[in-house]
Amino acid sequence: MHISLAGRSAVITGGSKGLGLAMAKRFAASGADVALLARTQATLDTARAEVQAVAKAKVIAVACDVSRADSIAAAHAEVSAQFGKVDILVNNAGQSRTGPFETITDAIWQEDLDLKLFAAIRLTRLVWPGMQERRWGRVINVLNIGAKAPRAGGNPTVVSRAAGLALSKVLAGEGAPHGILVNALLVGLIVSDQVRRGHAALVAKGSNVTLEEHIAKTGTSVPLGRMGTAEEFANMACFLASDQGGYIAGTAINVDGGASPVW
Ligand SMILES: NC(=O)c1ccc[n+]([C@@H]2O[C@H](COP(=O)([O-])OP(=O)(O)OC[C@H]3O[C@@H](n4cnc5c(N)ncnc54)[C@H](OP(=O)(O)O)[C@@H]3O)[C@@H](O)[C@H]2O)c1
Repeated sequence: MHISLAGRSAVITGGSKGLGLAMAKRFAASGADVALLARTQATLDTARAEVQAVAKAKVIAVACDVSRADSIAAAHAEVSAQFGKVDILVNNAGQSRTGPFETITDAIWQEDLDLKLFAAIRLTRLVWPGMQERRWGRVINVLNIGAKAPRAGGNPTVVSRAAGLALSKVLAGEGAPHGILVNALLVGLIVSDQVRRGHAALVAKGSNVTLEEHIAKTGTSVPLGRMGTAEEFANMACFLASDQGGYIAGTAINVDGGASPVW
C-alpha cells in the first residue's frame, strides 16, 4: 500500500530519538512537513539533518520541554509560523519511570503527569481548533501496554498512561464529527535510545553483556521472540496518520509482538 502524507504537516514530540525519530523519517519520506520537538538542541540538530536527508518536504527542529506549558506554547507558535497549520500531532515524548508505590513522592507523580498527560492535553488543545476548522486532523498518543494492563511496580507510568488512554477515547468521540481521528499506540518492547541507556546502566554496574545480547535477551520475553524495531512502530503510526487510516478512530493498538496480556 502506498501511503502519502503530501500536503500534511506533522508535529512529533520526542522526535529526536528512538520511536519519534523513526516516525519523523517515515512521515517526512511520505511527503509531510515535519516538526521535531525535544529538549536537547544538539540532538535535535543531528536528527533534523537525518530526517531532511529522506524528506520530500520541510523539516524543522524546535527545542521544547513538553512538560512545561510555556515551552509548549512557544513551540506551537514557532511551528505555526513555519508551517501555517498542524494536521498531525504525535504525542510521543516520554520516559520510563517506575518504582515501588511508597517511594513515589507527590513531586514525582506531578512530573510524570506533566510529561505524559498534560503535555498531550496542552498540545492537543492548541492544534484542535485548526483541525476542526479544516475538518481534518490526526492525534496519535504514544502510550505503553501498561495503560490497559497495569502491573505491580508500574507506578507512576501506568497511571499516567491509563489517563492518556481515557483522554484518547474522549477526544476521539469529540473529534470524529469534525474529521479529527484520535488513536493511541501502546508500545511493548521496542529498540530505542531508551533501551540503549538501559544497557549502558547495566554496563556501568559491571555487566559485560553486549548491547546485541541485551536486546536479544530482553526479546525472549515477547511471544514473537524479539524486541520490535522503531521502523515497525513508525509504519503503524504513518498508516494512522494517513487518509488510508481514515476509518480508525478511538482505538488503542498494541504494537508489542503479542506481549500484552489483553487486547
Ligand atoms: N521503547 C520502548 O520499548 C518503549 C516502551 C514503552 C513506552 N515507550 C514510550 O514511547 C515513547 C518513545 O520512547 P523511546 O523509547 O523512543 O524513547 P527515547 O529513545 O528515550 O526518546 C525519547 C524522546 O523524547 C524526548 N523527550 C524526553 N523528555 C522530554 C521532554 N520533557 N520534552 C520534550 N521531549 C522530551 C527525548 O529528547 P530530549 O531528551 O532531548 O528531550 C527523545 O527525543 C515514550 O513516551 C516512551 O515512554 C517506549
